[in-house]
Amino acid sequence: MSNNTNRREFFGFTFAAVAAVGGAASLVGMKQAWDPLPSVLAGGFTNVELSGLKAGKPSTVTWRGKPIFVLKKTSDMEKSDRDLVIGSDRFVVAIGLCTHLGCIPAWKKDVWKCACHGGEFNSSGKQTFGPPPRPLDLPPFSVKGTQIILGEEGPEYKKIAAAMMA
Ligand code: FES
Repeated sequence: MSNNTNRREFFGFTFAAVAAVGGAASLVGMKQAWDPLPSVLAGGFTNVELSGLKAGKPSTVTWRGKPIFVLKKTSDMEKSDRDLVIGSDRFVVAIGLCTHLGCIPAWKKDVWKCACHGGEFNSSGKQTFGPPPRPLDLPPFSVKGTQIILGEEGPEYKKIAAAMMA
């Protein structure tokens, strides 16, 4: 084999090695660019402990940048097929954005009132007054013991979502 052939092979291998390393590095770079940011991953699921909730006092948590209302109903609040029933307790889980134009309604005694155009939602999240065209929306959730995990579609969510569509 001549010196020229050796040099050609040497440069050929070197080029292939550099190209392989460069290709791998760019794949890593592409994967990093396509993967969701850690903050997005962390924001995908939110656990809410229900056992500490006081009946009649909704709590608001943030899930994927949206307010989520979680209300433990009192015994004199209406029962609804939208209720999440755990043992003898009933809960309402709802996206806290008015279904009219997206303002955040505030809890006043026993209803959510929207200050923007006067819309109202009862303790089950149903629209009872003003311009909102539909009940408060239902976020996907699953139930694990006394917790709900927002962001997962569990059987309880599917049952309530089906009841809301009926
Ligand atoms: S945005 Fe709530 S009533 Fe209009």
